[in-house]
Amino acid sequence: MKAKVFITKPIPLEVENYIAKFCEYEIWRNEKPISEELLLEKARSVAGLMGAHIKVTEDLLEQAPQLKIISNIAVGYENFDIDLMRKRKILGTHTPFVLDDTVADLVFGILLAAGRKIAYLDRYTKAGNWNKIDDNKFLGVDIHNKTIGIVGMGRIGEKIAKRAALGFDMKILYTDREVKSEVDKKFNATFCEFEQLLSRSDFVVTMTPLTRETYLMFGEKEFKLMKNSAIFINCSRGKIVNEKELIFALQNNEIAGAGLDVYTQEPIDKNNPLLSMDNVVTTPHIGSASAATRFEMAMKAAKNLVAGVNDNKPENLVWELKD
Ligand code: DGY
Repeated sequence: MKAKVFITKPIPLEVENYIAKFCEYEIWRNEKPISEELLLEKARSVAGLMGAHIKVTEDLLEQAPQLKIISNIAVGYENFDIDLMRKRKILGTHTPFVLDDTVADLVFGILLAAGRKIAYLDRYTKAGNWNKIDDNKFLGVDIHNKTIGIVGMGRIGEKIAKRAALGFDMKILYTDREVKSEVDKKFNATFCEFEQLLSRSDFVVTMTPLTRETYLMFGEKEFKLMKNSAIFINCSRGKIVNEKELIFALQNNEIAGAGLDVYTQEPIDKNNPLLSMDNVVTTPHIGSASAATRFEMAMKAAKNLVAGVNDNKPENLVWELKD
């Protein structure tokens, strides 16, 4: 008998066909995210759940006695309650590697857009304007030869460093739990203290996962340490930033601009001041959203799911389950 699984968002047909070979499945195809109540109901009878950010709660696990695996279609897994899942021997998987270049591309896209005011000038040009481009407020800053500070030199951090060094001749500073001597060698990067990185960088790019340690790691003190000309880029997780203090720093010219793909609250409230600032470039949490990468992520998640519900070891376990 095929294992039953529930998938909380639409996935490419080819991935659906792969799952169909091994599982009896149902997919939430609605554009609106599934409600918590309905998810609890669906979880009751399945061995596997797959989705982008399924919030794991005691309630959910309590109501899902047959559940063996939750397969994230994302590299981040802050939605998991690892202790709770381990206690109940429920596997958690994610989709690393396949999105590294795609997210690094977006980071650079946003960085260029913020530095050279591309989004602002796009609106300006489309509104039928042209002539005033020598006015200071239209002038951006150069990217090449500037200093980029990368907070978190993991796989994606390294891809950003590669683009910065080889594409834009940038000087690279970084912080991490450890010195990455390979990255230092390849891209002439320099490991430094967090505070030094903040005060010396023209672009501060954060690429850390959301953990207890990184929660609200950017706030008033950190923005004050940055140059007034600095541009802050966050394409990792909104909750590593104190958003009110970021807004204050932007409104009071403590920093010059920001490029944001993630927010404290998602979807972002339409009255959030960030949305009406000309020096802020925003995108709606789409770091990994190229067609090819989203396909790879869904397929990876599907393979993890199928392995987990059939008592095989999934490739991308977030932690090892010990008896
Ligand atoms: C990820 O993979 O974690 C992206 O942020 C999408 O959620």
